[in-house]
Parts: sequence; structure tokens; C-alpha cells
Amino acid sequence: MDEYKRFARNYEGLNPKEEIFKQEPFFREIIKRYSIKKCLDCACGPGWHLFMLDNLGIECAGSDLSEEMLSLAKKNLKGKNIPLKIQDFQKLSDSWQETFDLVICMSTSINHMQTDEDVIKALDSMYQQLDEGGILIIDNGVADALINERPKLIPARIHKDQAYYFFLQYPDEDHIIFNILDVRKTRDSFEHDFETMTLKAITKENLEHCFAQTNFKRIHYYGDHDFSTYSAATGNRLIVVAEK
Ligand SMILES: C[S@@+](CC[C@H](N)C(=O)[O-])C[C@H]1O[C@@H](n2cnc3c(N)ncnc32)[C@H](O)[C@@H]1O
Repeated sequence: MDEYKRFARNYEGLNPKEEIFKQEPFFREIIKRYSIKKCLDCACGPGWHLFMLDNLGIECAGSDLSEEMLSLAKKNLKGKNIPLKIQDFQKLSDSWQETFDLVICMSTSINHMQTDEDVIKALDSMYQQLDEGGILIIDNGVADALINERPKLIPARIHKDQAYYFFLQYPDEDHIIFNILDVRKTRDSFEHDFETMTLKAITKENLEHCFAQTNFKRIHYYGDHDFSTYSAATGNRLIVVAEK
């Protein structure tokens, strides 16, 4: 997790709160459909999902493996009564004695697992933190599209005077190396930062295989945050709602 030690200071430019707040209608519907009262974000990063869910009246708690990301969350959630802990989501019960009716793992955090065994261990740990009938939500990203199309360059986020580019490499069938270039305009020139992360390309098929080895009862696969049907062919963002 050393990647986030440096990358934490650039992370919010790549994944700004305004983008996360666009998911609010999705979460409003989830809260209504499943009568959600209490949520754990187990890879909370800078904490903007917790911020949003707290504003929607949900009792929230957050954890993350990275100290640097968690300090962003502490700053962003100042004044809110949200417990935050450093914790690997493969061993959530080490920190969390209580259970929740919603556990979330958003923005491709699960893809930091490098093997099927690690994904299954993470899913089991998340399952354990759920009440009976509780749900897990995973935002698995666009692995199917990347693996099918193998783009080499993605302009990931373009602001007025800052841009993030992904240069992608495909070392094998189920991993993607994200080389992330962050370019900022200064008064007379440019500044650059560079980070590399290897993520597991968890395709829908791969995720189905992993879920089949857990105790989750029903798993819904949606294309993006609008409950549309997922299609690996059109390469939507894969959002998973798994019921305990
Ligand atoms: C792409 S960021 C997403 C952060 C946040 N959920 C968001 O939507 O902006 C991935 C996060 O997963 C965290 N992470 C990676 N592996 C983890 C693990 N094993 N346990 C807990 N957190 C982990 C990282 O520290 C980072 O904060």
C-alpha cells in the first residue's frame, strides 16, 4: 500500500468529491430498498462516501489500510461523529466488533487484491461484518472493457489547470499496471507527479467465480450507479450489490 503514501496528496484531484456526490441518487435508492441505517466504508480513502451517507441520515464508520488516506478522511469529516480506523479489509473483525446493514468498498478498492484467494478473503471479511440480510456494495470499475480493448492511454481527469493520464500496461490476463501521470500548470511551466499501481482486472466472470466461493445469498450485477443491466460487451462500470 506504499502507493497511497505518496499518491494521497494527489488522489482527490483524480477522484474529486463532486464525482462521488453524483452517486447520491443511487445510495438514496439503496437506503430505501434495503432499509439501511448503519454503514461501514471499508476502504474509505478521503471519506466522501461517508460524508454523503452521513448527510443522508445513516450512522457511519470508516476504515482504510493507508494512514495517509485516512488522514484525508479525518480532515474531510471533521465535525462529524464518524469513527475511523486503520484496518485491512481482509481482516475487518480485528477492528470492528459491531456489524452493519451496509458495507461498501468503492472506486475499485477491491482491485488492489492481486489474486482470487485474496479477493475471496476480502469478501468473506466483509460478509462477516454484515447483519443478517445486510448488503455489500462493490464498485469494481471497468475491468471487462480494459481487458477487451486494452487501451494504452486514458486521459482520466482533466481540470482547468491540471490533468491526470493513465498509461496502461497488461502484464498478463488478469492484471493491469496503471502508470498515473499528474500534470499541473504553474505560472510559467508545468509540474509533474508519477505513480504506478498494479490492479487486478476483476472481470464480471472472475468476480462471479469469487462470489461463488462465499456465503452471499443473492448477487446483483449493475452497469454503473443507475441500476441498469451490466453488459461486459459495452464495458459499463460494474456495480455489485451482494445480499447476506
Ligand atoms: C481508489 S481508492 C478509493 C477510495 C475511496 N473509496 C473513494 O471512493 O474515493 C482505494 C482505497 O483502497 C484502500 N485499500 C487498498 N487495499 C486495502 C485493504 N486491503 N484494506 C483496506 N483498504 C485498502 C487504499 O488505501 C485507498 O484508500
